[in-house]
Amino acid sequence: MLAPGEFRINPSILAADFANLAAAVGEVGSVTEWLHVDVMDGHFVPNLTIGPPVVASLRRHSNAFFDCHLMVTNPGALLAGFARAGANLVTVHAEIGGTADYVRAIRELGLSVGLALNPDTPFAVAEPFLEAIDLLLLMTVFPGFGGQPFIADVVPKIEAAHAAIEARGLAVTIEVDGGIDATTAAMTATAGARVFVAGEAIFGDPRPAAAVEMMRRSVAAALALLTVRPTDQGG
Ligand code: DX5
Ligand code: ZN
Repeated sequence: MLAPGEFRINPSILAADFANLAAAVGEVGSVTEWLHVDVMDGHFVPNLTIGPPVVASLRRHSNAFFDCHLMVTNPGALLAGFARAGANLVTVHAEIGGTADYVRAIRELGLSVGLALNPDTPFAVAEPFLEAIDLLLLMTVFPGFGGQPFIADVVPKIEAAHAAIEARGLAVTIEVDGGIDATTAAMTATAGARVFVAGEAIFGDPRPAAAVEMMRRSVAAALALLTVRPTDQGG
């Protein structure tokens, strides 16, 4: 869903002040186009957060691309509500099952489609859906809470997913989420990620916009290295 060479820093409002979300989205609105909304149901994950009414309210304060990450057992009941509220992309987790139906339902609502895998869910689970989705979210922490440490064991899965997507000539964008800061963003960019969700690293910083810029520079430097190819020494 991004052009070649493009990437996005994606601030997660989970780490923002929930009593002052309009200010939080305003702080990052001029430096990045995406906003990550973590939806938790107290069932798929042991935490409870945001639903369509909050997204609808945020929509009145932001023109950002709303990336809604549904950590819920039963998304079916919520999808139309998120579409009405102004979501642009809805991601469901593969672990809940019924992926084909949810992917179709999200598409029919006119939204971009994401599929998420927990750190211990193999890439093979997502492979049958690659033609049908826009974004593959590879969790780099177990979902439920912000501020957890990055799980480096996920990096080979990012590399494998990137290789498979390239080999099949697909336009699926890889997103990473959990423990992402300037360092881990660069590391996962090298592995193939192009959308970088960050909560604590952005809203835990006294200057969220500067934190976004620092991550952007770090990812750009990592991607620039990828384009440097060894010179062909052959005759
Ligand atoms: C975790 C959420 C993440 C969370 C990331 O369950 O899906 O989006 O906000 O937070 P950090 O960047 O603080 O690890
Ligand atoms: Zn998330």
